[in-house]
Amino acid sequence: MMTIPVAILGATGYAGGELIRLIENHPYFSIGHLAAHSQAGKRVSDVLPGISGLTAGMILATSDAPLPDDVQLVFTALPHGAAAQSVKTVLDNDKKVVDLSADFRHKNLETYKSAYTIDHPYPELLTEAVFGLTEFSRADVSKTRLVANPGCYPTSTLLPLVPLLKAGVLNTDRIIVDSKSGTSGAGRSAKTDLLYCEVNEGVHAYGLPKHRHAWEMDEWAKGFSGQEISVQFVPHILPMTRGMLTTLHLSGQNPEGWHAILVETFKDELFVKILPEGMLPSTKAVNGSNRCDIGLVVTGTDTCVVVSCLDNLIKGAAGQAVQNANLMFRWEESLGLSATALWP
Ligand SMILES: NC(=O)c1ccc[n+]([C@@H]2O[C@H](COP(=O)([O-])OP(=O)(O)OC[C@H]3O[C@@H](n4cnc5c(N)ncnc54)[C@H](OP(=O)(O)O)[C@@H]3O)[C@@H](O)[C@H]2O)c1
Repeated sequence: MMTIPVAILGATGYAGGELIRLIENHPYFSIGHLAAHSQAGKRVSDVLPGISGLTAGMILATSDAPLPDDVQLVFTALPHGAAAQSVKTVLDNDKKVVDLSADFRHKNLETYKSAYTIDHPYPELLTEAVFGLTEFSRADVSKTRLVANPGCYPTSTLLPLVPLLKAGVLNTDRIIVDSKSGTSGAGRSAKTDLLYCEVNEGVHAYGLPKHRHAWEMDEWAKGFSGQEISVQFVPHILPMTRGMLTTLHLSGQNPEGWHAILVETFKDELFVKILPEGMLPSTKAVNGSNRCDIGLVVTGTDTCVVVSCLDNLIKGAAGQAVQNANLMFRWEESLGLSATALWP
């Protein structure tokens, strides 16, 4: 079969770099166009030294350069705000798009404005965008031309939370979500609080009182389960390159039965693994893979701790984006993706 060329806008970022790696190993997609912003005009290998082969010699276009006619799908891995304009142009050119930014994740315009403190330039597109938490939105992803790829924190939170909300077993008035992320979660651009000396040998919380992703968790917990919640979400940065661990402190009825709910929900899923009861996941066991591992420990008659782990750049970004792209072309969703992690 001939491959379908795709474009990656924001190819020089951490998510964009992972997209290149995944697409290079994809059986039916190939790289047709790569664009950047401050690095436009350079050779890919000058900016991403890990990339080899034909892609390494490609010249990075500007993000507003015309897309080649044969490109059918575009991944936009750009900062929010900038992504919306590119997505509009891509759709006007009759191409499909998977947007990794937050620009199309919210149905409600006011929620987007509250979370991102900017006006949305194309609110009419929010209606048709499909929030691509693949395990819960396959049917819609396979029919749309615009996927809003979820954030990494919301992916690690919603995968275990939604089935328990749907089952109606949780106390919804107090859901505590405590997350830790490697520094790649904040992107590649220079920021003082991400300098080696600031991050190394330390850990800090940030984003309080309401981190942007808390809006996304609340909206899509309701979208997928019908239950209204307001999570208390605290993200932390850890001195590691990649990986995300999210701990949910939950209470409700009969937590002894919750493990079975998660097992039943994900029994046929390749990329969500429910660990045996009492076993807890680790970032080391998922990094490099498109997997989310989930463990659960009952801590009292009505309390339970659920821990989930994923690679923020793979299941939390580029991997889930490829999983969604496969569905948009009605292919097997695991194409080009590995459920096996790098080890050690
Ligand atoms: N990192 C993660 O774990 C993660 C997880 C889920 C979702 N996301 C989302 O994915 C998107 C990309 O994240 P990232 O971590 O890869 O960011 P990043 O490392 O900072 O990369 C940003 C990319 O966008 C380009 N860019 C920067 N400003 C631009 C502008 N004004 N117009 C057009 N292009 C611009 C950069 O080009 P130059 O390098 O040439 O300047 C670079 O290629 C973000 O929306 C982020 O929220 C990231």
